[in-house]
Amino acid sequence: LGDEGPSWADAAPHRHAATGHLLQLSEDGGLVGADVDIPIVVVAEGAPPPPRCAAVLRLTGPARARLDIDGRTHDVDVEPISLGQAVQAANMLTTRAESALGHRAGEAPLPLDDLIRLAPAPRPDALVASFASVTAEALAVDLVRDGPHAVVIGVTGSGKSELLTSWVVSLCARHTPQQVAFLLVDFKGGRTFDPLLPLPHVTGVLTDLDEAAAVRAIESLRAEVRHRERVLGGLGARDVAEAGDALGRLVIVVDEYAALVAAQPGLHDLFGDLAARGRALGIHLVLSAQRAAGVFRDAVLANAPLRIALRVTDAADSRAVLGVDDASRLSGRPHARGVALIRRAGDTVPQAAQVARCEGGTIEEIAGRGGDPARRPWLPALPPRIDLDGIRRADAVVLGIADEPELQRQSPVVWHPADTSLAVIGGPYSGRSSVLRTIADQTGAVVIPSDAEGAWDGITRLADLPAGSTVVVDDLDALVARLPGEYGAQVLDALESAVRGGRARGIRVCVSAQRLHGGVARLIEGMHRRVILGFASRADHVAAGGEASDHVADLPVGRGRIGRTLVQFAVASDEATVRSAGAGSVLSWQPGRRAAAVVLPAGRRSRRLVAQWESWGVEVATVEGATELRRGTVLVGPPDAWLAQWRLLAQARAEADLIVDAACAAEYRALVGARDLPPFALPGADRAWWNAPDRMPRRIVLAAD
Ligand SMILES: Nc1ncnc2c1ncn2[C@@H]1O[C@H](COP(=O)(O)OP(=O)(O)OP(=O)(O)O)[C@@H](O)[C@H]1O
Ligand SMILES: [Mg+2]
Repeated sequence: LGDEGPSWADAAPHRHAATGHLLQLSEDGGLVGADVDIPIVVVAEGAPPPPRCAAVLRLTGPARARLDIDGRTHDVDVEPISLGQAVQAANMLTTRAESALGHRAGEAPLPLDDLIRLAPAPRPDALVASFASVTAEALAVDLVRDGPHAVVIGVTGSGKSELLTSWVVSLCARHTPQQVAFLLVDFKGGRTFDPLLPLPHVTGVLTDLDEAAAVRAIESLRAEVRHRERVLGGLGARDVAEAGDALGRLVIVVDEYAALVAAQPGLHDLFGDLAARGRALGIHLVLSAQRAAGVFRDAVLANAPLRIALRVTDAADSRAVLGVDDASRLSGRPHARGVALIRRAGDTVPQAAQVARCEGGTIEEIAGRGGDPARRPWLPALPPRIDLDGIRRADAVVLGIADEPELQRQSPVVWHPADTSLAVIGGPYSGRSSVLRTIADQTGAVVIPSDAEGAWDGITRLADLPAGSTVVVDDLDALVARLPGEYGAQVLDALESAVRGGRARGIRVCVSAQRLHGGVARLIEGMHRRVILGFASRADHVAAGGEASDHVADLPVGRGRIGRTLVQFAVASDEATVRSAGAGSVLSWQPGRRAAAVVLPAGRRSRRLVAQWESWGVEVATVEGATELRRGTVLVGPPDAWLAQWRLLAQARAEADLIVDAACAAEYRALVGARDLPPFALPGADRAWWNAPDRMPRRIVLAAD
């Protein structure tokens, strides 16, 4: 080895390998680096060799040695060479490595600005970028000829995002936004592409920070496909190159494709479709991931012959993308960062290239050139508020504006005349009442009031509504929960017959609810159409009948779905007049000329009422011991006393005002001899029912002043 130490080894390509094997030579049993593939260690006689040394060569004479390898010992001749010869051999190996791999160890990449300057002029049938160099020469990558699509893999920190950035910038520098536009997607963290936002070629940067918006924009690409097919069809052009200036190319760059399709598995099909049809339409995909296995489907790989690998840890990933293991042997050391193995469609072996970094200033320079920005392949998102007055129609009940990204369209949605029932379901403060108001405003609907007595009155009178009426009931679930069981069931029955008979009778029913259970769920199940507004939790959205994958945690108020279509519902102006069915009517009653039979629990209230009537000069007696019911008099008693006087009770039913206090609801049917429920009466509010011959029972207040 000589006194100068192992300097010859520093000249060997293995010492600086960015690809292939790393070699280390150390004397006196020096430490072996963990990333070293080939350690050569000199140890003193008798000292143990380091554990990773598989072969031990023991010098026994100037030209003789004993070699222990694979558990066997061989006597071998060794041929010493001089230090000068060793350096020469190392230099020869370096030259060979350079010509084989096209890569000079530790070579500095050409600056991106230089590469851009060297790139060819744009052509309609090419999309050439120069963002990497091989032995100080620019490597040109043509997304049209080498693609139409590219796959890029590399572990975290291997330089994927930097490569994608340089690629995009290099294309933007030589093309106008009308020649090439970009849609950039980053689904892991979301900051990678921010520096590219100023470029007029960039139509959008989509991230998982707003997943719903990102998915919507990506879904719009289906419409972009149709748009391009239409333009090409109109020109009679076979592909985008023949279309001249009519269509520019669109490059969709996805950093962390695995994260995107993991979040939205449905996009596998969309990307497969784009990959298959992209070439003719001028849509190009550049998809990057940390691994290849299980990420890229065959539909994508088969149409993406342009393959780029940065360092990977698994040889299988390297093979899947490049066909060889080399990317798994790329060094992770700082000097090897930015080395990419690039295999274009025509390459027999991948080329090792140095990726240029995009330094400050380049993007600003391109952005500063001015000119029109690229056409966006999607419409802006729905606005947070749509005023009914702006979209009102004479011939239909307008609900709002539907977002149809797959058609690149936003159009009004109306309440279809054939659907005579509509349910609006949503969480707290999701905009349920506003949707109902929008409907009521256009239909002059009968709005069922929110107080329980009024709601009862309104709903039990639905059978009398004339044709052409619309009824709206807000928060039906809350209403039913506030009513005692029998009343709740009757309300639901009445609504159900209105819903079932709606078409025949020409009436329409719209109800809202937050939660669907029991009878409310069954009623809504039978309705024609369902609006699902925002729910904080996916479980509630699904319970309301929504598709799990359609759930968005923070929908703006007034936004929801009809079927799977996203709709922003219109809001009626504040002056909108909405006809309410009126709060529950409560009559007051006083003893008159007719005889009166009052059923009332004994107690203070009863005493005060009797005292009041007597002060008016009315003759009042208790039913216990009474023998007759006379005109102008009042008989008072608790239910059991009345039930014991069956003859007087029968007379009261037939000729008198029969007043039953609401506190006697349990005995009401026995007292009145009727099967129907009396009108709902609020408990604890001095309510009573007034029955008179040949009249429906009415709700009254029975209280002393
Ligand atoms: N379609 C809409 N567009 C824009 N803003 C809306 C829309 N709908 C409702 N809002 C706003 O949100 C507020 C709450 O709406 P609304 O009362 O309709 O919600 P809700 O679901 O009925 O709430 P709650 O759970 O309290 O009954 C409204 O006062 C209005 O300011
Ligand atoms: Mg409400």
